[in-house]
Amino acid sequence: MAKRLSQKFYDEMKKLEPRYPTKVALLLPALHAAQDEQSWLAPDIMDEIAEYIGIHPAQVREVASFYTMYNLKPVGKYHIKVCTNVACCLLGADEIVEHVEKKLGIKCGETTPDKRFTLMEEECLGACGTAPAMMLNDDYLENLTIEKMDKIMGSLA
Ligand code: FES
Repeated sequence: MAKRLSQKFYDEMKKLEPRYPTKVALLLPALHAAQDEQSWLAPDIMDEIAEYIGIHPAQVREVASFYTMYNLKPVGKYHIKVCTNVACCLLGADEIVEHVEKKLGIKCGETTPDKRFTLMEEECLGACGTAPAMMLNDDYLENLTIEKMDKIMGSLA
């Protein structure tokens, strides 16, 4: 199988290996590193991880599909994940999602045709005290309002 993950990925895994009791325990960090590099986890990337770790590809898919933080399909340059769990919903998360859907002309789970934005609903982000909250790629944004959302989106190049 031709390798698609970079030497940097393999070097990082080599560095992490001694910190984990088994190679299988490296699966989550490997998925993170691969996603950082590729922006999503394509089937052949998950196969490559399985081969590196020495487990069946189905095991990699099982784990990757369990966590919403892993992208199993391509995402836009700006990946917006709005929490719609209880605390955020009570403070207007649904209205924010609806507003963003209208603004971008897409539904949750979709990517704009120009590949700039992907919008998703997310489970609790652990920021209930500053709800409504969302993640924009790897950054947390909290105390959201529709006006704040417009400003955030307007600032994105
Ligand atoms: Fe939205 Fe917890 S419910 S961050």
